[in-house]
Amino acid sequence: MANDASTVFDVVILGGGSGGYAAALRAAQLGLSVALIEKGELGGTCLHRGCIPTKALLHAAEIADETKEAAEFGVLATFQGIDINGVHKYKDDVIAGLYKGLQGLVASRKVHFIQGAGKLSSQTSVDVNGQRIEGRHIILATGSVPRSIPGLEIDGNRIISSDHALKLDRIPKSAVILGGGVIGVEFASVWKSFGVDVTIVEALPHLVPLEDENSSKLLERAFRKRGIKFELKARFSGVEYTETGVRVSTENGKQIDADLLLVAIGRGPVSAGLGYEENGVAMDRGYVLVDEYMRTNVPTISAVGDLVPTLQLAHVGFAEGILVAERLAGLKPVPLDYDGVPRVTYSNPEVASVGISESKAVELYGKDKVVTLKYNLAGNGKSKILKTAGEIKLVQVKDGAVVGVHMVGARMGEQVGEAQLIYNWEALPAEVAQLIHAHPTQSEALGEAHLALAGKPLHAHD
Ligand code: NAI
Repeated sequence: MANDASTVFDVVILGGGSGGYAAALRAAQLGLSVALIEKGELGGTCLHRGCIPTKALLHAAEIADETKEAAEFGVLATFQGIDINGVHKYKDDVIAGLYKGLQGLVASRKVHFIQGAGKLSSQTSVDVNGQRIEGRHIILATGSVPRSIPGLEIDGNRIISSDHALKLDRIPKSAVILGGGVIGVEFASVWKSFGVDVTIVEALPHLVPLEDENSSKLLERAFRKRGIKFELKARFSGVEYTETGVRVSTENGKQIDADLLLVAIGRGPVSAGLGYEENGVAMDRGYVLVDEYMRTNVPTISAVGDLVPTLQLAHVGFAEGILVAERLAGLKPVPLDYDGVPRVTYSNPEVASVGISESKAVELYGKDKVVTLKYNLAGNGKSKILKTAGEIKLVQVKDGAVVGVHMVGARMGEQVGEAQLIYNWEALPAEVAQLIHAHPTQSEALGEAHLALAGKPLHAHD
């Protein structure tokens, strides 16, 4: 191995996704010398195979729905169908623009970008393209890939992962989606809008099972109304090829035929064969273990993003990357409060939340210390204009702060910014009630919910 030790970087980062590039940008901003190694494309899963492309598809789906429903608003329009190549072009243009911007940003911060598949070769170096890149510190940020079940082989054609679904050049007539988590629900939403007959198979009792149960139930009601089918408490037992598609079986004896099966049962860490264990990094089931400062057990190595067992969200990766960069630059960053991370499922309707669920609050504080309030969007003018249904549910510690905000309805993802301030600043309902919300906006619903929780409801029955 040629030793390019003439330069020892302050930080060498393996993986240029949300976690890795955020660490690189912040470290460089703080005056550290940075090498960023990426085997694929800068921007990683979120930009190329995750957040951005799926949200573009969801926006195309929204336009399809609005066209179909135009007459309800007195607008004459005819829905003629989906031009899937046109959808991909729109989506790919969005990605291309952001990708170009990100490349420019990384270059302008003087980050030394290396294209190639790197491997940890010691506790202070990464080998890539036949070169040894030395660093005083290493950040592992190799991310995650779609997971499958032993025996369930993803063929990329009739049995696919979200990677394939994002590039699918046809619109199937029918699809089974295995997993009713975030990915499953978002694809179900897109495909239904595109005219696909969709069935979700979920092992747990609810869709988006990590959300407050009220949000899951509201989403299920909305999906039922949209004609999206789902089997709950249905664990996958097998799949076979039929003449034209697949037949999916569940342990409770159901069989569902469809053109294809999308497997969306979670994402697993990318760590195999990368030299982590060989160099003494403590791992658990492929995840790299870290403390609240994202330090591994090896003093010179940190890890961030989907590779570590925290929430697998791009904005968590950004925050973890920034935290490590600031720590390495000698600042005193504060550990993340993972409950304070906003979470959004961008389906129609959207599910957005921050803080803890009612059941978690009861577990933490006891049943008689937890107060909840539900505000129905039917009382909100802008939601009525949009013809959306849903609720905002607040979870409060009795006589104390709001510890959970759970929202379902069109565009509720855009309300999560205010919700996170409420949670993270430990606001009392009366303090939020004091703030004036613009009328008519959907943010008013958050204001009204807090007015009601503070004992002075306005557009709600006492
Ligand atoms: P997930 O963990 O959110 O959901 C997987 C679902 O599959 C779970 O509900 C689980 O109970 C179910 N499941 C697992 N094995 C099963 C079986 N044998 N039979 C039936 N059901 C089974 O994982 P998902 O949706 O694949 O997403 C991966 C990650 O990507 C998540 O951490 C998610 O947060 C993140 N993501 C976030 C998005 C967002 O923030 N909008 C969008 C897409 C993904």
